[in-house]
Amino acid sequence: MQRAALRLRRQGRRIALVPTMGALHEGHLSLVRLARRHGAVVVLSIYVNPTQFGPREDFASYPRPFARDRRLAADSGVDILFAPKNLHADDASTTVSESALSRGRCGAFRPGHFDGVATVVTKLFNLTQPDVAVFGQKDAQQCDVVERLARDLNFPVKIIRAPIARDAAGVARSSRNAYLSAAASAVAGQFAAALRQAVSVSDARRRLATVSGLRVQYVEAANNRLCAAVFVGHTRLIDNVPLKKRRG
Ligand code: PAF
Repeated sequence: MQRAALRLRRQGRRIALVPTMGALHEGHLSLVRLARRHGAVVVLSIYVNPTQFGPREDFASYPRPFARDRRLAADSGVDILFAPKNLHADDASTTVSESALSRGRCGAFRPGHFDGVATVVTKLFNLTQPDVAVFGQKDAQQCDVVERLARDLNFPVKIIRAPIARDAAGVARSSRNAYLSAAASAVAGQFAAALRQAVSVSDARRRLATVSGLRVQYVEAANNRLCAAVFVGHTRLIDNVPLKKRRG
């Protein structure tokens, strides 16, 4: 991958990276479309990165529908599908760690998660040599951390935040939505609606407390956005919306 990327760069081609963990859905495809507008060659990476999952999280059961992903990638105009089996040496001993923006929100409940993300994103940047990289705004804190990483480590990569893709019920698209039953999907719709209507953290907490079948992990304001994580059954969902000015 790195040799191919360096060759493309020598030819003066621009590279746009869309990093994913696969189980592609419309949200990822919207990232690919955005990447197309920024780079001549679109590289989509699929790698379920073990180092960003906690010991009790869903690494083993994370959906891996590779044949379908390959078809969707080809149909959506991806030029290079980069799907390594393993990117981490067994005795790897170097970690990239962002120590400010990765605190709070998801970072408070997923210790080590953003170290895993920052390290694998660094590796993916080195392997794919992108001019631009597209990340979904649904993972707001990830976007914050990756922007800081690119700035602090002087990666010559422009980070693009893609708007959140939502389904007809307003639920932010996520590979983990595949875990939801019809009843749980309805609860996820109420989660999205409550967040959309909320004008503050306390208002969001109040609204979410009235939704049955949902357990709030956190609601926090950060970077002018109202961010929340909830559990619907065993499925953890995150979402964020612009923070509205409080009326009246
Ligand atoms: O957002 C994701 O799918 C992952 O966190 C990423 C950026 C591909 C790193 O593994």
